[in-house]
Amino acid sequence: MATAPEIEFLQSMKPIVIFECEVSAPPNIAFVKYWGKFGEQKPINPSLSMTLTYAKTQTLMKVSKSDVFGVDVLFEGERHLGFKKRIESYFQTLIRYYPELSEYHYHIETSNNFAHSTGIASSASGFAALGSCLGYFLESLGRENISKSELARLGSGSASRSIMGPFMIWGTTTLKGESSDLEAIPMNPGAMEELGDIIVIINEEPKEISSSMGHSLMESHPYKNARIQNAHRNILKVYKAFRDNDFELLGNVIESEALELHALMMTSATPFWLILPETLSVMNWVKEMRAKGEAVYFTLDAGANIHLITKLKDQRVIAEKFKERFSELKILLDRQGLGIERIR
Ligand code: PMV
Repeated sequence: MATAPEIEFLQSMKPIVIFECEVSAPPNIAFVKYWGKFGEQKPINPSLSMTLTYAKTQTLMKVSKSDVFGVDVLFEGERHLGFKKRIESYFQTLIRYYPELSEYHYHIETSNNFAHSTGIASSASGFAALGSCLGYFLESLGRENISKSELARLGSGSASRSIMGPFMIWGTTTLKGESSDLEAIPMNPGAMEELGDIIVIINEEPKEISSSMGHSLMESHPYKNARIQNAHRNILKVYKAFRDNDFELLGNVIESEALELHALMMTSATPFWLILPETLSVMNWVKEMRAKGEAVYFTLDAGANIHLITKLKDQRVIAEKFKERFSELKILLDRQGLGIERIR
């Protein structure tokens, strides 16, 4: 047993926590996709997304003063080397902008209420939560004009859009003078009714190809210029759909964006595909439902899972019909939401 002076000594070695923050952040689903980047995590085209509500990453960060910079990371209560490495390299990037961050030790505990790396954008919610914690920390150190969206973007581009909601634009577009490659800004939903998202889980395994690899394949992609032009055009169409409450126009754009994203993957110098046979079955079912008069459209991110976008008032009925046809597939019901929340 340690003696009293030893205990006192050991306690004096314990890092003193000088800042504590806990934030929850939702993922977002892109209606117009970000695919391809340049410089320091800037998008080659503007993107537009819907922030979700129920799916969440929750991150607790405890900061203590330290002579040597350090990070330890617990993911769902356990050490995770992959996440630790990614977070360490995120800090290295941030330290170039905010050198004072190197004078501390960070203890980070993070967990998701949904499976990570499945195409439900866990990197978006993850970096939105961590970037926000760091934003609050920098503010506590006296830094002004901190953009949490910008901090999140430096971890994962799409994370810039999870800070606020319900609809966010990231990347310079003629639609909005204040739009920027550095941070996302909210978009007025106009007359559009509230929207819901039925997330269909087709594959819970981590995906084989990362988004980073996909973005880098866009650098020399033969359809790069056409893609950039389409994304600009589609942002304008989505804006018009919102302004006029034209759900059909919105649906047509989001489906064509999802198909274009996956077509770009298949036609890159190293072709790859992430959709599975079940993804196609669900896409066909969505078309059948529309032929029967249901207002439902699909979109996909970089994975096999599929998001069914509906008006919120139709969501339950469409989800029930989905369950009758695909009883083996797990679904999560989500809806448009407002972004991060500081818990403590
Ligand atoms: O933020 P990243 O690097 O994980 O890229 C996300 C890319 C897509 O999800 C496919 C599209 C998007 O805009 O969210």
